[in-house]
Amino acid sequence: MTISTAKPAFAVDKIRREFPALEREFNGKKLVYLDSACTALKSRGVAEAVSRFYETLGACGGKRSTHLLAQAVEAELIRARQAAADFLNAESPNEIVFTSGTTEAVNLVARAFPYDERREVVLTDLEHNAVFLPFYEAARRGEIELKFCRSRDGRIEPDDMVKLVGDKTALVAITHASNVAGGTQGLAEIRKLAHGRGARLFVDDAQFVSSHREDVRTLNADFVAFSAHKIGGPFGLGVLYGREVELNSLRHYKVGGGTVKSVRWDGKGMPEVTYLDAPMRFEAGVANFAAFPGLTEAIRFLRAIPEAPLREHVSSLVRRAAEGLARIPEVKVLGRRDDLSEGSLVSFYPVHKEFSVADFNLFLNHELGDRFVALRAGEHCAHLLHQSLKLDGTVRLSFFAYNTAEEVDLFLDGLKSYAKEACA
Ligand SMILES: Cc1ncc(COP(=O)(O)O)c(C=O)c1O
Repeated sequence: MTISTAKPAFAVDKIRREFPALEREFNGKKLVYLDSACTALKSRGVAEAVSRFYETLGACGGKRSTHLLAQAVEAELIRARQAAADFLNAESPNEIVFTSGTTEAVNLVARAFPYDERREVVLTDLEHNAVFLPFYEAARRGEIELKFCRSRDGRIEPDDMVKLVGDKTALVAITHASNVAGGTQGLAEIRKLAHGRGARLFVDDAQFVSSHREDVRTLNADFVAFSAHKIGGPFGLGVLYGREVELNSLRHYKVGGGTVKSVRWDGKGMPEVTYLDAPMRFEAGVANFAAFPGLTEAIRFLRAIPEAPLREHVSSLVRRAAEGLARIPEVKVLGRRDDLSEGSLVSFYPVHKEFSVADFNLFLNHELGDRFVALRAGEHCAHLLHQSLKLDGTVRLSFFAYNTAEEVDLFLDGLKSYAKEACA
């Protein structure tokens, strides 16, 4: 018997067929989508799951009304919570709080964290504004003090963190994968450092879980957040993972219907309110019910792709892009070449003053024949990093399971011809 040692081919064509946006034309041009870090395209299955909800259910869930229809809706919520818990390898669905996205998850933690004599929060300059600004505002309200750890070539060095984390640190908040610098952050040492000094660790997984499997038990962070839309799920839904004890130690963030266990009132004085435990305690108001089956389907879709080939596929695209960019003298790549491919994106900036990012963007949309390239240029809501690097903006290519080497090459050819013409 001969045993094949060939790696299983990654069935990218089969994956692409599930994403109708890749098939259609926009102004007569077909899409080359290199903007998945902004949001991943939605599969047919996700779109159908959401629309099926509206067509066949359309009611609110079972904690308010308890009729059979409401119970069917509630079952979708329960399924999604379980799917999210399994996706992150959480111990229990009670560790999964639904929010409207990563942004709301960070706002929740920044607002509700029980700061006491520990009132310092350590952030990094890689953080998206979704992480930076909620803590910045807490600092402006006088609740906390902020400390910043600066990255080196897109990476946070634990040795730099050591100086910032101490017995006054309440929380260290860090991205697992920067939305600009690329690569991933090795968090084991940072977690040990934070926990060793009695601080909690918040991990922003918004750019991590689209092509990595997160295991919160191994990661051992206290809080982890991601957005459904960045893994091909629906908009308006996010996940905040927290250990139950940590979640239940948080103060209130948003209160309202669905959060209350009991209200006692004698009709005169101050009512006495008892709240439910996490996760319900944080999920005030009618939920975005239609998004739950969409999230369940997005997670099912991603988990059906074996982890190693998915990572290898996305890594190979990043590697190809980074190597191609490095051969173009008019631009410079961000991050460390040796570990960029651990992430799912690559950013660069022009080093030639004649290279106009705005013109290049127009070129990508209008000058590539029957194709156009969708990507993102600017500060990517990562103003701290751009300030740190003294850059006005960067251009970012970001990848998901559906991208191909041919798309990378098409982009690189376009870049070469734009750069040659503009910088001649
Ligand atoms: C690293 C990172 N964190 C947080 C966010 C915020 O995610 P959302 O807008 O889905 O809340 C983003 C979005 O781009 C991101 O890239």
